[in-house]
Amino acid sequence: MTCKASVFTASIITLFIISLFQDVYCYYWLHMPPGPWSLPVIGSIHQIDPKQPHRSFKKLSLKYGGILSIRMGLRDRIVYITDLDLINKIFFDQRTSDRPPLNVFKYLTKDIDGIGSSSYGNNFKKQKHLIVNAINTIRNTSAQHKIEKIMKQYLRRMSESEGESFDPKESIIELTCSLFSSLVYGSDYNGFNDPELQTIISNHKTVMDCISPFHPLNIMSLFWWIPNKWLRGFYKCIKDRDIIITRKCYQTKKINSEDKNHQENIINILLTEHDIHEKQDIKNLIMSAWTVFLAGSESVRSLCLWTLQNLGLYTQMQNRIYHDVQTVVEENSFPNIQQKHELPYTCAFILETMRVCQANVLGIPHCTSADIQIDNNVIPKGTMIMLGFWDNLNNSKQWAEATKFNPDRFLDENNKLIKYQTLNSFIVFGKGHRMCPGSSITLDLMFLFVTALVKCFLVELHLKDGEKIDTNGQFSFGLEPSPYKIRLTKRNNINHDNFL
Ligand code: HEM
Repeated sequence: MTCKASVFTASIITLFIISLFQDVYCYYWLHMPPGPWSLPVIGSIHQIDPKQPHRSFKKLSLKYGGILSIRMGLRDRIVYITDLDLINKIFFDQRTSDRPPLNVFKYLTKDIDGIGSSSYGNNFKKQKHLIVNAINTIRNTSAQHKIEKIMKQYLRRMSESEGESFDPKESIIELTCSLFSSLVYGSDYNGFNDPELQTIISNHKTVMDCISPFHPLNIMSLFWWIPNKWLRGFYKCIKDRDIIITRKCYQTKKINSEDKNHQENIINILLTEHDIHEKQDIKNLIMSAWTVFLAGSESVRSLCLWTLQNLGLYTQMQNRIYHDVQTVVEENSFPNIQQKHELPYTCAFILETMRVCQANVLGIPHCTSADIQIDNNVIPKGTMIMLGFWDNLNNSKQWAEATKFNPDRFLDENNKLIKYQTLNSFIVFGKGHRMCPGSSITLDLMFLFVTALVKCFLVELHLKDGEKIDTNGQFSFGLEPSPYKIRLTKRNNINHDNFL
C-alpha cells in the first residue's frame, strides 16, 4: 500500500471511530433516546428520503419507538417524537418551547427577536400577545373587505381562463401573496403582475427552500462559510426584503400621520395601537410582521392547492358544498365570514384537507432550554426536537379509517361542526406556547376561498386517459401537492358580472 493510500485508510478509520464514540457518548453517557448508528460526516441522513422525510421518520419510529434520536449531517443529534402524549407535553412545557439557533434563522432575522425564531421568554410572550391581538383586530374589522376584494380579482382572472386546463400553482401563489400583503402591510398591488409582488413571490420561494431542515445549508454548516449559489440567493432575498419592509413602514408612518385612526393592516396596528417606544421593540415587531407574512402566505398557499385538488377529486363533496352555499349565500352576493356557522360541511371539508394533507408534516422545530428527563431518556439542553405531525394526523390509532378523506368526521350527530380545539389529536396548528397565531384567520380565508370559488365555478381535475393523480405530495419546507391541472366551468345560474 502506498503512503497516500495508508493515510487515506487511517483517516477513514479515525472518522468511523470518532463517529462511533460520539454515538456511544450520546446513547450511553447522555442517555439520549435510541436511534440509528451514524456514519462519519453524513450521520444517518442516508436513511431519510428528502422527498418524503415524514415517511422515513415513521419507519424509524416503528423500529425505535415514539421517541428517537438521530444525527443528520454534521449537526448535533436531534430528537424526533411521534408519541402523541409526549408531543402534547412538549407543546405545553416552557423548557421545550425555544427554537433551535440555526444559522438560517440567525441570518434571516439578523438577531432581531421577532416571533417565530425567538426563544421562549418575556420578549417572545409580549410579541406573541401583540401579534395575536393584531390578527384578531383585523379579523373583526377589515378582513372581509380585503379578502373579498382580492378574491374577486382572482375569480375575474379565473373566468378569463374558463374551460382551459391549467396548473393552478402560479395563480394561487399570486393570490395568497396579494392577500397577505394586504392584511399585513395594507398594500394593494396593481394587479397580480406587479413587479414588487413578483419579487416577493420569488424571494419567498428561495427563503422557504433554504429553511427546509434538509437543505444543504442546514445539513452542512460548512456551506455558510464557502461562497455558493444558495448563499448568494439567500442574501439577495434578505436585502430585497429589508428594502421592501422599510418602504412599507415609511408608507404606514405617513398614512398614520395623516389619519390617526387608520388601522387596517397588521403592521399598522402593531406600530400604533400599543405604547411601544423602544427602538429594539419596534424592530422586533417589524420582523414579527414579516414572519406573519411569510408563514401565513406560504401555509395558506399550500392549503389552497391541496383544497383545489380535493375539490376536483371528491366531486360529490364539492356538489354538497355548492348546494349548501346556494342555500345560505344570497344569489349574486359574495359569501361572508359570519356565514361559517351556517355552513358546517364546508368548514369540515377544510379541516379534513388540513388533516390528510398536513402541510407542516414535521412542524417547526422546537429546542430545549434545559435537560429534560423522559422515562429513561434524557434530552440535553440545546437539542433540536422535531414532532411527528403527519404521523399523528394520518394514524389509525387516532382517526378511524385515517387514510379515507371524510369531512363528516368533523361533524357531530346534529351535523354541527366539532370544535377542532377540543380534539386531542388535531395538532395541525400545534398547541400551547408556540401554537400558530394564524389558525382562526386561516379558516376565515379558506372559507371565503372555497365558498366563493365553488359558487362561481365547477372545479374539475384534468387527467389524461388512464392518468392517476399523485396524492402523496412533494416535500420542500412542508408538503406540497405534486403538479396537477384543473379546469373551471362557470356555473350557469350566476351572473358573473354582478357577482364579481
Ligand atoms: C394552513 C395554515 C397553517 C398551518 C397548518 C399552520 C401551522 C403552524 C404550525 C404547525 C406552527 C408551529 C407550531 C409549533 O412550533 O409548535 C405554526 C407557527 C406559526 N404560524 Fe402558522 N399555520 C398556518 C397558517 C398561518 C397563518 C395564516 C399565519 C399568519 C397569519 C401563521 C403564522 C404563524 C407564526 C407567526 C408561527 C410561529 C409561532 C411561534 O413561533 O410561536 N400561520 N403554524
